[in-house]
Amino acid sequence: MILAAGKSTRMKSDTPKVLHKVAGLPVLRWVVNAAEALNPDEVVAVVGHGADEVRKKFTDDKLTFVNQSPQLGTGHAVMQAAPQLKGFKGDVLVLAGDVPLLRHDTLTRLLKNHRDSKAKATVLTAKLPDPRGYGRIVRDTSGRVLRIVEQKDLSAEHAEIEEFNSGTYVFDAAALLKRLDKLTTNNAQKEYYLTDVIGLLCQGGQHVGATLTDAVEVQGINTRKDLALCDVAARSGILEDLMLNRGVTVLDPGNTYIEAGVEIGRDTIVYPSTVIHSGVVIGERCEIGPFAHIRGGTKVGNDCKIGAFVETKNAIYGDGAKSGHLAYMGDVTLGKNVNIGAGSIVANYDGKKKHKTQIGDGAFIGCGTVLVAPVKVGKNAQTGANTVVPRGKDVPDDTIVVGAPARVLRKKTSGE
Ligand code: UD1
Ligand code: CA
Repeated sequence: MILAAGKSTRMKSDTPKVLHKVAGLPVLRWVVNAAEALNPDEVVAVVGHGADEVRKKFTDDKLTFVNQSPQLGTGHAVMQAAPQLKGFKGDVLVLAGDVPLLRHDTLTRLLKNHRDSKAKATVLTAKLPDPRGYGRIVRDTSGRVLRIVEQKDLSAEHAEIEEFNSGTYVFDAAALLKRLDKLTTNNAQKEYYLTDVIGLLCQGGQHVGATLTDAVEVQGINTRKDLALCDVAARSGILEDLMLNRGVTVLDPGNTYIEAGVEIGRDTIVYPSTVIHSGVVIGERCEIGPFAHIRGGTKVGNDCKIGAFVETKNAIYGDGAKSGHLAYMGDVTLGKNVNIGAGSIVANYDGKKKHKTQIGDGAFIGCGTVLVAPVKVGKNAQTGANTVVPRGKDVPDDTIVVGAPARVLRKKTSGE
């Protein structure tokens, strides 16, 4: 069960918090992926604030959406989903829609601890010297969990507690349902707190467990500052995976921005100040950057080069294709060993629509060429410096064109 209905007041945004992006993916996408990776019987997402917008982003997922309106707190959110749990005997994992970086290993460990200890609930916790904003885990003198106290309800006696609630829990379904009816809004925020279910279970003599993990992983997003912290952590994990598991050289990880869902082949080198968006695929032994901006839909073969101040979007690079400097390659297919001279662009947008360009194997595009899409440049063809190839004026194979607009200069001699 994923709670994603909240108003996100602290983000000061017109966009629902869970649709803000972390390393290129909506916050809620990370949470949904984490839930789906556990192969649950069902995933229920509680939505409310911006519900329609949120639903639209997840039409391909097997999610059951439940509406919460008005939003009266996390406990109230779970109440709205309670009908989905009627008759269900088993464990309910509750995830907060605004906690994106939970690792699969941690969630399986949480579930295992919960089942092994036969607890009615198990909370995922972490520690910080000053866990401001989070609910604190109150334990008795023998270390047993007693309840969770929210930041806004915190009294001096609990001010020193370092252990906090990640907003992630496993509940026995029946035990959860029974306590939901007992929640009240008798607290500082006048909300139904899901966290109070923990206290109610303990008061009733039930065992509640806690599983500890590290604080970075459970970083929640309440403000833009939290969003930035999560983004940095997510991207550093992505770079670590590329370096340690995929054999990619990243020269300056602190200045390299690679989003989630990017594939890069072995022995490719990524130079600093490069931005690579979700879904991009790059082959082996390529050189990328410095200062390259590689946008969605770009697929790069092996032994390619995308150098300084080159932007690509929906660009297919055949093996050995190179655009070394200062270029825009949008909605274009480059054949094998195509060379794009400095300052060349594909004018893919006519003000209304985007159009495609094809450049054949071995073509040589001279510096400062403008290819006005839609247009085709033939195999082994060549353009002179500052050529403008107008839309539809396809350049035949093995032909050199020059000028603005381009005119045929001559046919190439064989082997040229
Ligand atoms: C909550 C926990 C806190 C924990 C923290 C971890 C409660 C009362 N507090 O606080 O103990 O340390 O998460 O990040 O649960 N939501 C709804 N409907 C609502 C309210 C919230 O669906 O009516 C959703 C939000 O969209 C969000 C999640 O529940 O994804 C958490 O809500 P939020 O208001 O951010 O709770 P916190 O104050 O962070
Ligand atoms: Ca939160």
